[in-house]
Amino acid sequence: MSVTSARPPLIERWREHLPFEEGDPVVSLCEGATPLLPAPVLSERVGAEVWMKCEGANPTGSFKDRGMTCAVSAALREGAQAIICASTGNTAASAAAYASRAGIRCAVIIPDGKIATGKLAQILAHGARVVSVAGNFDRGLELVRELVERHPISLVNSVNEFRVEGQKTGAFELLEELGRLDLLCIPVGNAGNITAYWRGFSEMGATPRLFGFQAEGAAPLVAGHIFEHPETVASAIRIGNPARGAEALDAVEQSQGAIRAVSDTQILAAYRLLASREGMFCEPASAAAVAGLLEYGADGAERVVCVMTGRGLKDPDTALDHNEGAVIPCEPQMAAIEAAVLG
Ligand code: F0G
Repeated sequence: MSVTSARPPLIERWREHLPFEEGDPVVSLCEGATPLLPAPVLSERVGAEVWMKCEGANPTGSFKDRGMTCAVSAALREGAQAIICASTGNTAASAAAYASRAGIRCAVIIPDGKIATGKLAQILAHGARVVSVAGNFDRGLELVRELVERHPISLVNSVNEFRVEGQKTGAFELLEELGRLDLLCIPVGNAGNITAYWRGFSEMGATPRLFGFQAEGAAPLVAGHIFEHPETVASAIRIGNPARGAEALDAVEQSQGAIRAVSDTQILAAYRLLASREGMFCEPASAAAVAGLLEYGADGAERVVCVMTGRGLKDPDTALDHNEGAVIPCEPQMAAIEAAVLG
C-alpha cells in the first residue's frame, strides 16, 4: 500500500530549484516549512523587526534535515549502501535518521565526549555506528574525507554539494514569507549553512546582509587562522577549521555583512533570554546568532531574521547547568503545596 503525506517533501516542494528529476528516489521525513516566529522582546531590544526561523522544528530537531534529505536521496540514486559523516552531533543525528528511513547503513565520527546528550541518544536510537575519536571535529572530518577515498561510502558532510543545495531552501522560505529582509543573523561552525543561505538568496535575486557569529574560543573566520583547540559551551560550533570557510567569507563580503565573535557568557545570556522571555528553547549554538545581534545591533536594518538552528532538548545538560530555575521538593500535602507553589 502506498501512503502519501499531505505536506510535500522538501525536494518536491522546491524541485525546480534542486538537482532532482521526477522519478528520482526521495528520502524524506517531512522536513522544511518551519515556523517563522516574531520575536517581540528582541525587537524591542534592538529597535528592529526581529523574526526567528525555527529550524529546530525540523524532524530531527535541527536545520540539517534540509540538506540531509537531498544528500541521502542523491546517495540512493547513486546506489550507495552506506553513508558517513564527521559531526558535532546534529549532522550525525540527521544522517542516522535519514539512513534508517532509506534502509542503508550509517556511520558517524564524533569528537570524544564533546557531543550533546540528546544528539547521541538520537544517533544510537537510529542504529548508526558511532565512532568516537580522540580529537576534535576537524580531525574527524579529515579522517572521513580520506576514508571515503578508500571505500565506497557516501560522505554526507556539508562538503557534499547536495547538503548545501537542500539547506538553501531556508532562504527561499524566508523570502516567500517575508518578501524582503535586510539582515540575516546566523551561527557559523563548518560554514555550510551560511554558504547555503547566501546561495538561496542569490538565486532569488535577494541581497540581505549576512551577519555570521562564531564562538570566541572557536572563531577561525574572525581571527583569520585555524584554531587547533577550539573550545566553547556551544558544542555544535566547536570547530577550528571550517570546510566552507572561504565561501562563507565570500558570502559575507558580497552581502556587505561580517563574521564576528561572541563569548560563551554572551551566548548563555542570549540562551536564557530566549527561553525565559521569547518561549524559544534553542541550543547554545543557535543562541550565538542572537547574542551577536544583541551585542552588535541591527546596524540600521529594519527587518532581521535569526536562524534558530537547533532545538534546546538536544542539549539537556547545558540547560540544567546554566539556568537559574530549581526543583522544589514537596510533601504531598495541601499546606506544603501551597507554601511551595505560592512561595
Ligand atoms: N547550529 C547548530 C545547532 C549546528 O549543529 C551547527 C553545525 C551550526 C549551527 C553551524 O552550522 O556548520 O553549517 O556553519 N553543526 C555541524 C554538525 C557541524 O556536525 O552537526 P555550519
